[in-house]
Amino acid sequence: MRLLAISGSLRRASTNTAALEALARLAPEGVKVLVYRELAGLPPFNPDDDVEDRPKPEPVETLRALVGASDALVIAAPEYAHGLPGALKNALDWLVASETFAGKPVALVNTSPRAFHAQASLREILSTMAARVQPEAFAAISLTGKTVTAEDILADPVCARRLKESLEALLAATRAS
Ligand SMILES: Cc1cc2nc3c(=O)[nH]c(=O)nc-3n(C[C@H](O)[C@H](O)[C@H](O)COP(=O)(O)O)c2cc1C
Repeated sequence: MRLLAISGSLRRASTNTAALEALARLAPEGVKVLVYRELAGLPPFNPDDDVEDRPKPEPVETLRALVGASDALVIAAPEYAHGLPGALKNALDWLVASETFAGKPVALVNTSPRAFHAQASLREILSTMAARVQPEAFAAISLTGKTVTAEDILADPVCARRLKESLEALLAATRAS
């Protein structure tokens, strides 16, 4: 079982990326979680460059291949001005026409309880893209304003338990599909 974890934050000390790194370390044997770190390398989405039977920009081909090789996705995103970070929306736009995305089970991780606009927007976008967002795999943990590493998150029993439950729910849904 392979999972691809995408953080919507490009920040070096991102709480969202740290949460995904923590989740990756909770993976049971036989499950590999790859934390994708190349969002900033994707070109701005342009439908002119997304034409069937023509090669896409290399970072886009790589992302699509990673999604295609994954059984499920985990996405964690901060909220900027009540919306999704542009870099994450850009990546999702590149995946709209990708045959590898539709039907993929997805777990969402939210590290800020205030960020409900971005979460709602992300759910709407993902359902429009025919992803299967798993409600029982949603993990809400409160890390806003903190400087945390994956180790700090794993050392917090509440955060670690929520992430583990999210991962288990996603794996169960993926196995059942
Ligand atoms: C430009 C900017 C706009 C933001 N807008 C919001 C917002 O509308 N709502 C919110 O809850 N947080 C907002 N925040 C706070 C971030 O979502 C928060 O710091 C988040 O934890 C950052 O995630 P990261 O640690 O993964 O980078 C904003 C932060 C920045 C830098």
